[in-house]
Amino acid sequence: MYLKIIFYAFDLFGKFQVPNNIDKDDLIELNLFFKEAGNKSVSKVYLNKNLTKRGMNKNIKLIQGDIVKTLPNFLKKNNQKFFFINIDVDLYEVTFFILEIIWNKVSKGGIIWLDDYREKKGKSISRGYKGN
Ligand SMILES: C[S@@+](CC[C@H](N)C(=O)[O-])C[C@H]1O[C@@H](n2cnc3c(N)ncnc32)[C@H](O)[C@@H]1O
Repeated sequence: MYLKIIFYAFDLFGKFQVPNNIDKDDLIELNLFFKEAGNKSVSKVYLNKNLTKRGMNKNIKLIQGDIVKTLPNFLKKNNQKFFFINIDVDLYEVTFFILEIIWNKVSKGGIIWLDDYREKKGKSISRGYKGN
């Protein structure tokens, strides 16, 4: 049996947007990160080209924009559950927002993978989010 799995990759695919409600410590951390890594993520065109080269573009859909807008729009149009969710957006405020709206969309036995669960500095999601 062939199981078709689609991964949806939400990202700005461009210049990092700093939320207005960012925590002071997070902003310090973020600015240090920008100094090391720059403030731009990989472009959608570049990533799509590489996915196509490897024959992966049919299984991975890139959704560009601020996830605070793109994810609610996506969920309005796609009433489905997800078995694996990887959250790696660096920021507490954005991570918290995603968790709040995705929590009830995880299928039974599904996994939410958090890249920044317990940060040494800044506001950690492990301190703030309790789920439902
Ligand atoms: C550490 S990178 C991780 C990227 C990818 N998961 C990886 O491992 O290569 C954090 C990503 O979060 C994205 N990001 C941060 N805030 C975002 C937002 N409000 N909406 C969409 N993407 C956001 C950035 O564009 C950046 O690509």
